Amino acid sequence: MQLLDGKFASEKIKTEIAEEAAAFLAQSGRKPHLVAILVGNDGGSETYVASKMKNCEKVGFKSSLFRYDNSVTETELLAKIEEINKDADVDGLIVQLPLPKHIDPEKITETIDYRKDVDGFHPVNLGRMMRNLPCFIPATPYGILLMLQAYNIDTTGKHCVVVGRSNIVGSPMSILMARNANPGNCTVTLTHSKTHNLKEMVLQGDIVVAAIGRKNFVTADMVKSGAIIIDVGINRETSTETKSGFKLYGDVDFENVVPKVSWITPVPGGVGLMTIVGLLKNTLASAKGEIY
Ligand code: GUN
Repeated sequence: MQLLDGKFASEKIKTEIAEEAAAFLAQSGRKPHLVAILVGNDGGSETYVASKMKNCEKVGFKSSLFRYDNSVTETELLAKIEEINKDADVDGLIVQLPLPKHIDPEKITETIDYRKDVDGFHPVNLGRMMRNLPCFIPATPYGILLMLQAYNIDTTGKHCVVVGRSNIVGSPMSILMARNANPGNCTVTLTHSKTHNLKEMVLQGDIVVAAIGRKNFVTADMVKSGAIIIDVGINRETSTETKSGFKLYGDVDFENVVPKVSWITPVPGGVGLMTIVGLLKNTLASAKGEIY
């Protein structure tokens, strides 16, 4: 078994991003600029957004955070998005999900200018992704592709089984792995909570992407010997063992799956770190005008 080490891969790519950001600053007189909007006090969202902002500083980007109470109206949020859309000093805008129930996430997503949609959630970016055109790729799937690339893993012709069909990870991942590209060129099966014979399906995967959001969901009896396992799960449980007061678990039963596989991502220290790299790369590409 070999570890797909998110710390190693993310640090290497962030060094490259920092160099490119410095060159961009020297040439344009400005830094790539990411804006995040955070609504409410969800613990996970707080942690992710803080990490996104911190990493922007690390690679020499400008970052801005706009925070709102849970009581913010949809109209207020939409007005803020319109304002940021028009701001020429902003390259990327993300609205952290999930949002409170009274706010329609589809409306929010579609109001963000697709040219600043560095999360890659806007229908224009999703449509262009399907057609293999330049676009912002959703950060987590993008991070997974960068991880496979960092370890020179050839995915061509392999059977990739994706577990979970979320808009953020599973669905875009299934499209990306099937595209005529490398990483890509896979035969893809997209499975989810209603799939019949899920175990038999996952057993067929040369590559398994676990993104169903349930602790230790993928067990050793479900994986083929020699498979490549990508664990997207970030399941938070309160714990007295850690300083932060919580512990993270993946969607894969790591300890028991490890002896069977060729490559595997740990949790924490795997895909989570790569998601940020995907976001930073999209923001840099936006600043440089490489996509639109
Ligand atoms: N919530 C969980 N993952 C994400 C993400 O990649 N982007 C945003 N905006 N919200 C999220």
